[in-house]
Amino acid sequence: MAPRTWDFPEGFLWGTATASYQVEGDNANCDWWEWESQPGRIRGGDRSGKACDWWGGRWAEDLDRAAQAGQNAHRLSVEWSRIEPEPDRWDESALAFYREILLGARARGLTPFVTLHHFTNPLWLAARGGWLSADVVPRFERFTTKVVSALGDLADWWITINEPNVLAYSGYAGGVFPPGNRSLPHALQAMVHLMQAHAAAYHAIRARVPGARIGLAHHYRGMRPARAGCPLDHLVAWARSSTFNEACARAAQDGILRLPGRRVSIPQAVGTQDYFGLNYYTTEVARLDLRAWNELMARSAYPAGAVLSPNGFLANVPIGLTHALRWAGRFRVPILITENGTEDAADEFRRRYLVEHLLHLWDAIGAGAPVLGYLHWTLVDNFEWAEGWNLRFGLWGLDPHTQARTRRGSADLYEQICRANGLSEETVKQHSPEWLATADARTGSGGAAP
Ligand code: FCB
Repeated sequence: MAPRTWDFPEGFLWGTATASYQVEGDNANCDWWEWESQPGRIRGGDRSGKACDWWGGRWAEDLDRAAQAGQNAHRLSVEWSRIEPEPDRWDESALAFYREILLGARARGLTPFVTLHHFTNPLWLAARGGWLSADVVPRFERFTTKVVSALGDLADWWITINEPNVLAYSGYAGGVFPPGNRSLPHALQAMVHLMQAHAAAYHAIRARVPGARIGLAHHYRGMRPARAGCPLDHLVAWARSSTFNEACARAAQDGILRLPGRRVSIPQAVGTQDYFGLNYYTTEVARLDLRAWNELMARSAYPAGAVLSPNGFLANVPIGLTHALRWAGRFRVPILITENGTEDAADEFRRRYLVEHLLHLWDAIGAGAPVLGYLHWTLVDNFEWAEGWNLRFGLWGLDPHTQARTRRGSADLYEQICRANGLSEETVKQHSPEWLATADARTGSGGAAP
């Protein structure tokens, strides 16, 4: 039989995603910097320090790496605390820096995606209560207006807020992100403000960049009942999924934020996603636990028998991506995978994870999912929030002390895929032989013969 290829649609976007705080370094004017300085907040007491030293100029060599490795898109974020270091004081030199990066991305053939908020807040906003403060929505709107006025001509793709669910949950209920609150009502209130801010930002961008394509990056975590025969596990898995996975996405469609015991009307949010940004990493199982009040009475774990990443941070459950895509399809807008990837310093697990997720993505596209691109998390190892330098998500490794980059095998693999706009039989055979064995029975064409 002729060798097969798993081709992606023409013009598919292939790239990587980064976030300002995780790559820039020296972001001393924001809440995460202050958080890092507190004992016990970051694993092993790690500090972001220079991170990947993008602020010192190394963005250029990293974007060279991306472009030379066949990528044609890059997602990055801008840092609010640099652009507005004090309320209503704008730092034009920070905006000029981001102009340079965006021009640099475009000059290298990388379509830029700009995220306006990726987890970090200026210290002055944190002092006022962060996402709980009464004026955070107009403040974010003003910030957005400033950014798009300065950069709007350089990017078509905009992401207002990265993972509002993770930010609200981890910062205000789980206590592992700043401000470290452990209150479910606070998390729900933060979510209300985040979605109001998203809606305000959407309209601010739309007014200044008419051709912009604007969305959110939604974190979708697969959630299944731990015990198939236990109705209470079904109930808590459903409750968590509706709040964590679904609430923000639905609010951006119909303007109603459905929270436990509360429906909040946000009419200005109706129809505020031109595409669906999907971050998918893993799937978990939930079982009833009446003590887990902040977690909507569910205790979660990875599915029995699932293969875990080297530090146990995530489970390789690529079928969860299929489910996530099926669900995202309901919103009837094009879909972009805005993040997917795994930690793996040794770079063994990552290759299989990558190939399996791309095969599931290919299969979903064959079944009609309107997916326009895939942005892998991430280009070079970067500062992984509360996990510090412990988790290595890069296609390139980084020694944060020397700033030396080391190309991993996954970078070669991803380059082949980006350049071929698909996966070869050789790649599939090597990294996911089971898929090959069952390919003909699948939804798509089972791999198109060239
Ligand atoms: C996502 C975040 C991103 C990165 C990955 C591993 O939730 O958006 O910044 O930390 O997880």
